[in-house]
Amino acid sequence: MKLMVIGGGGREHAIVTYLKKSPKIDSIYVLPGNAGIAEIAETIDIAATDIDGMIEFAKRTDIDFVFVSPDDPLVLGAVDALTEAGFKCFGPNKAAAEIEGSKVFSKNLMKKYGIPTASYNIFDSYDAAVAYIKQADSYPTVIKVEGLALGKGVTIAESFSAAETALKAAMKDKVFGDSGNRVVIEEFLTGPEVSMLCFTDGKVIKPMVSSMDYKAIYEGNTGPNTGGMGAVSPNRYYTDEIANYCMQQIFIPTMNAMNLEGRTFKGCIYFGLMLTDKGPYVIEYNCRFGDPETQVVLPLLETDLFSIVEAVADSRLDEIDVVFSDAYACCVVAASGGYPVKYEIGKPISFGDFNPESNIHIFHSGTKLTREGLITAGGRVVGVTAIAATANQARVDAYEAVKNISFEDIYFRMDIGS
Ligand code: AMP
Ligand code: GLY
Repeated sequence: MKLMVIGGGGREHAIVTYLKKSPKIDSIYVLPGNAGIAEIAETIDIAATDIDGMIEFAKRTDIDFVFVSPDDPLVLGAVDALTEAGFKCFGPNKAAAEIEGSKVFSKNLMKKYGIPTASYNIFDSYDAAVAYIKQADSYPTVIKVEGLALGKGVTIAESFSAAETALKAAMKDKVFGDSGNRVVIEEFLTGPEVSMLCFTDGKVIKPMVSSMDYKAIYEGNTGPNTGGMGAVSPNRYYTDEIANYCMQQIFIPTMNAMNLEGRTFKGCIYFGLMLTDKGPYVIEYNCRFGDPETQVVLPLLETDLFSIVEAVADSRLDEIDVVFSDAYACCVVAASGGYPVKYEIGKPISFGDFNPESNIHIFHSGTKLTREGLITAGGRVVGVTAIAATANQARVDAYEAVKNISFEDIYFRMDIGS
């Protein structure tokens, strides 16, 4: 089969790595891909949001199956357009992707179907939102823009002035564009966070191994949020008892709710959970694999990834056993100094002695190959994942490996997995 994958980050490097292992796959084209992906597949210079461009390429290349990975094309309706053009796809359609595309939609869905989530209010006017926080006078308070914002649309405001600043940025200065037309203001919760990626075809839902994302830029989970500075799997807080509760009270109810709303979700649904003292709550839904979570979850998958993906598209996921190894994974993300605020790109990268046969996987996020060699091309540059028999060994091995990588102003957190 000829496969086309849409996307070009560390998550897609991991997805392509494991799709490629399937005996059913002959060739993989990745739009736009990155320098790491180019080592294992053919990369095509078409943006992940260029839906007309991807359809034209798929027709010209006689593609058999399309895997749409990132949120933007999914929310824009790439799967609807590709399906209409006759291509079989993995990924939710536009109506289902709204579970991530609109926090107003997802909060209202959870409320309607009794799925545990923080209490909230929705505002489409800056003045009404400011009046509400003044009167509520309770901090921290959580302000979220409705739409996609590269993981940066959430503010935990510790004071009235911080809340007012966030509301002004989102609703008046439009720093997130139309994504900030409406905001959700919600109750602040505390507890360990768990990322759960699940395959679903709308009939059954099959959870992957649990993971934990480290979103903040600095050690001890301080500083501004990033796309994710590292991840571990499994997540030690996610016990069998909690898993069972989440399946019955969150995962199955969400799948059923989407069916009842006429928005059957087919693809990978991501549950961002917080284990509060009142039980697990949904912090967010994503309509896709998480990044960097995918960089720790897929290396532990024992079932052939493409077989699962194809079964989801064919609505026969019930026939597939989704099996994970009992090993541990730790991923440390090496970023450009100054990320997520201001950073430079174009720095030469060297990997040192890296043995591709070892327990270390290097997944590229922001890299580019030039005539002079490999250079940095983004905030998050590479993810280094180690697989080992214990969580501690995975952490030790990941740090040993990341220390071999060098580029000017490299930055990584020292406390991933500790
Ligand atoms: P989100 O993009 O919705 O996942 O939010 C980003 C991060 O903000 C989450 O991973 C949490 O750490 C934090 N967060 C979001 N909502 C809440 C909440 N209601 N209470 C406490 N922290 C939150
Ligand atoms: N790591 C969080 C996300 O993918 O949204």
